[in-house]
Amino acid sequence: MKVQFTETMLRDANQSLVATRISYDKFDPILETMDKAGYYSMECWGGATFDACLRYLDEDPWERLRKIKAKCPNTKLQMLLRGQNLLGYKHYPDDVVRLFVKKSIENGIDVIRIFDALNDPRNLRVSIDETLKNGAIASGSIAYTTSPVHTLEKYVELAKEFKAMGCQTIGIKDMAGVMTPAEAHDLVYALKDAVPDLPLVLHTHCTTGMAYLTILDAVESGCDIIDTATSCFSGGTSQPATETLYEALTGLGYECDLNRDVLKQVNDFFKPLRDEYFKSGLLKAQALATDTDALSYKVPGGMLTNMIANLEDMHAIDHMDEALVEIPRVRKDLGYPPLVTPLSQMVGNQAVTNVLLGQRYKNISKEIKAYIRGEYGKAPGEINPDLQKKVLGDEKPFTGRFADTLEPALDKARAELGDRATCDEDVLSYICFPQTAEKFFEKREAKMKRTYKYEIEAV
Ligand code: CO
Repeated sequence: MKVQFTETMLRDANQSLVATRISYDKFDPILETMDKAGYYSMECWGGATFDACLRYLDEDPWERLRKIKAKCPNTKLQMLLRGQNLLGYKHYPDDVVRLFVKKSIENGIDVIRIFDALNDPRNLRVSIDETLKNGAIASGSIAYTTSPVHTLEKYVELAKEFKAMGCQTIGIKDMAGVMTPAEAHDLVYALKDAVPDLPLVLHTHCTTGMAYLTILDAVESGCDIIDTATSCFSGGTSQPATETLYEALTGLGYECDLNRDVLKQVNDFFKPLRDEYFKSGLLKAQALATDTDALSYKVPGGMLTNMIANLEDMHAIDHMDEALVEIPRVRKDLGYPPLVTPLSQMVGNQAVTNVLLGQRYKNISKEIKAYIRGEYGKAPGEINPDLQKKVLGDEKPFTGRFADTLEPALDKARAELGDRATCDEDVLSYICFPQTAEKFFEKREAKMKRTYKYEIEAV
């Protein structure tokens, strides 16, 4: 039996442990070595990398991708995409989604992991279709959660839809790290039974301490590809360690095509960087510790951290326990959406509002209203009829595909940008993160003018 590895060092480990603040220059010297490790793929883009590059690192995310590709020609480069939301928090029209996917592939992406917070296939169809059209691998991913409406049958149904849409692999995305070994066993068996010819990928986090056990059970149940992180950036809110699972699984007789010496070189390279982030305070001890709260509250670690920060800001941290009890109630009222971006933030904020105002749904955020109107897709379960009535009155919820109601946006953005955009990639950066991209373009232009001036002086 063979098990393959997706290395998450450059994306999820980077995002989960150090808020995606590793600049390209920091890891450039190790890329050619990483290319020799034998990974199935290297997750290096999407998620928060795009925003962090523009906002904090003064890097063009597209250029980062092209540079990684040039140094890693033998490894499949992978990105994470939130379906119709791309890398943002709202739905984009289809012209934007299609061009974004096409350009991602043109600039170096080989595998796109595509998921939707509500597991609504209508939010996944266009990005999957465009991925396939451009010759990349579409990995349709299930946003995993537990609730009375999230049954094995529902997950199997979604996996079959992914297959029908042409996905070449199926992913299980356990963003909160709450999947138990028994759940992994049942889900992997059910999916292997339903779509036996598609490789199965498991993505989880060490947050609750469950990940190594869950991965082992998943692999023994037939999971083909696992997500892991170079050991010095593994554990805690990141993925389990690549080297550890390589040794453990090889010892059990699984064929893992990784090069042990290269793995060591990669880890040795990143260790001083980890220590640097520890010293600067960017990497916190808590991020590397085991936190079992997510198991009892069923709330992802990142969402807890955000809530604590928000409550502290409002001098209301003594309401934390009430807010934690309120989250599952809000989630139930909304038909049990999985707590993944952007739903995790929306549910968390509404729960805090309900608690602080001392009355449930006295204030309802505009995002939650949009959700109840059907603008994020189909809720997994039934929305509380009283809450629905409060928001909609006698209006019926929208049941169509929300992106179909959106006007094409590319030409408008091109016109707005004029010659500040040098290429379609710029236009896409601007559509995804307008203010951040504009600031980035300004700085870039100023830098180019400076360089030009020096060149003239040098001549
Ligand atoms: Co993740």
